[in-house]
Amino acid sequence: MTGASGGIGVYIARALAKRGANVICIARSEAALSKVVTEIKLSGGKATSFPFDISKLEELPNLIEQITQTVGGVDILINNAAIEKYSAFQNYYLDDIRSILTTNLMAGMELTRLLLPGMIVRDSGHVVNISSGSGKKGAPYNSIYSATKAGLIMWTDALRQELAGSNVRATVVCPGYTNAGMFMAFGLSAPKMARVSEPTDVANAILHAIERNYGEVMLDGFLTKILFAYIQLVPNFGDRLYRWIGLTKLNQTCATNRMATKG
Ligand SMILES: NC(=O)c1ccc[n+]([C@@H]2O[C@H](COP(=O)([O-])OP(=O)(O)OC[C@H]3O[C@@H](n4cnc5c(N)ncnc54)[C@H](OP(=O)(O)O)[C@@H]3O)[C@@H](O)[C@H]2O)c1
Repeated sequence: MTGASGGIGVYIARALAKRGANVICIARSEAALSKVVTEIKLSGGKATSFPFDISKLEELPNLIEQITQTVGGVDILINNAAIEKYSAFQNYYLDDIRSILTTNLMAGMELTRLLLPGMIVRDSGHVVNISSGSGKKGAPYNSIYSATKAGLIMWTDALRQELAGSNVRATVVCPGYTNAGMFMAFGLSAPKMARVSEPTDVANAILHAIERNYGEVMLDGFLTKILFAYIQLVPNFGDRLYRWIGLTKLNQTCATNRMATKG
């Protein structure tokens, strides 16, 4: 799984290890990964760390080679790593567009492209893409992130149909605000009425989705799913709702704070 060094990824890695998986932990930060792997091993689980920058797409075949030589075939790929950069769209640099698209969308696609043939030959495997509520409704001031998360939803939807009739599966999971990871890093509160999930609940929902072969999972419950469906029919209602609950203002604040810390 990618993004195992921090945030929700740590909880997913722990949950997978508890179920007996040999967890392949990928992220850039070697020290943080090694902490996660040591913790899993101390509690009797199996895990191996592969420090790697997944945005280096051309080098991903080497990563897969290393993994298959060290631990063998991959049964479950969890594309969890992501970055976000809050900003008004006109203030982004081309490099921001490139880095967010590459890390959040293209790396997962490339890892899947490399691992899928083996899964198809074995007629067994599961690709799990971690999207977000931001993939269901555009997140103002986080628009590139939002586009990658929407991309993950539609790519998974298409992939699942291509794999129908085989035992290779594809699932997309859409967490909302979570009490760990990227959103908490801002030290701000979630908008009013927004549910905040515990990272253990997100991890358990991912495991449950793998075991039950769900196509798409939304963390915030069935009513939220219906709300997002309605918002797709009437986007202007969604825009007003986001302004009313304070999400638009909150994201604008994140963008302002980011610009301020950049100097
Ligand atoms: N937290 C939330 O509220 C929330 C809500 C909805 C959806 N999500 C989704 O849930 C997933 C996990 O989010 P999170 O909150 O746990 O994020 P996070 O705390 O920022 O962690 C992101 C993980 O991705 C890794 N990563 C980033 N760039 C990478 C790269 N180039 N190569 C390899 N690894 C890279 C990071 O490790 P290194 O920095 O060590 O590389 C880290 O382990 C993401 O897909 C996110 O979009 C989160």
